[in-house]
Amino acid sequence: MSTETRTFDAQALWQKDKDHFIHPFTDYSLFHEKGCDLITDSDGIYVEDVHGNRFIDGIAGLWCVNVGHGRAEIGQAMAEQATRMAYFSTFNNLSNAPAAELAAKLAELAPENLNHVFFSSGGSAANDATVRLVHYVFNRLGKPSKKRILSRRNAYHGTTYLAATLTGIESNNWDFDTLDHLVTHLSEANLYRRPKGMSEAEYCNHLVAELEESITEIGADNIAAFIAEPIMGAGGVLMPPRDTMPACRRYAAPTASSLSPTKSSPASAAWATSSPPKRSSIPNRTSSTAPRDSPPATRPWAPP
Ligand SMILES: Cc1ncc(COP(=O)(O)O)c(C=O)c1O
Repeated sequence: MSTETRTFDAQALWQKDKDHFIHPFTDYSLFHEKGCDLITDSDGIYVEDVHGNRFIDGIAGLWCVNVGHGRAEIGQAMAEQATRMAYFSTFNNLSNAPAAELAAKLAELAPENLNHVFFSSGGSAANDATVRLVHYVFNRLGKPSKKRILSRRNAYHGTTYLAATLTGIESNNWDFDTLDHLVTHLSEANLYRRPKGMSEAEYCNHLVAELEESITEIGADNIAAFIAEPIMGAGGVLMPPRDTMPACRRYAAPTASSLSPTKSSPASAAWATSSPPKRSSIPNRTSSTAPRDSPPATRPWAPP
């Protein structure tokens, strides 16, 4: 735990939380009575509550503290960047040094032709942005009917309007509105609870056949994408049968990056020969921040 000694007025903190904090995914009949357990400290895989009780943080925050709590080097890098420049927009033709560095690093780590990065501030917003971009690409390709997203029952994709619709955990959406015309849910991929008597390979074929039937029924011309967790997380940490993802992937259209006209796959040939509407007729609303003709002169900059 942190070596710095901090004291908490446990009762006052509990009261502030109970009086003012709207918690997601919370049973309010219980919350009104008992409030929340307040976690105040952490170290590696452990967290500690306001009373000094220690727990193993089994799912790493919410699957997001994968390198463990209290990593001094990460804290230091964050502090250095925050004091140097807290934030700068990347809209239009602006950018900032850490964003450019991170995009290049992720492109280096990502497989094959995944070379371009679009940042968002969380998983739900990332999924919303992905669907918007997929729809946008098909609109530009002259295929505006390709809108439906296939997902899985018990999948978890987030809490924004569209990400909540992509999510297949029924109770998450009780009494909320959803964008049902955009999403069709297939079975969960749950090897442990597969139909009785099915082998792993048969179960894989069964899931793939269901995908194929759905594509036939809805029509490929009306489907934009299939979103699926490799291992379904919030739905119960469900292992799929081996080979499910590669087998489903065979039905996929080329990835956005393989649509680049510079790539040489058959799919990219289709992209290169199709004619998206010309942009020249669209007024340039960003002329004050038009792209530079040449890169800016080199100035020393090192990541914090
Ligand atoms: C697979 C998956 N997608 C999306 C999300 C939503 O991410 P966020 O909570 O950052 O919006 C989560 C969150 O746990 C997730 O597990």
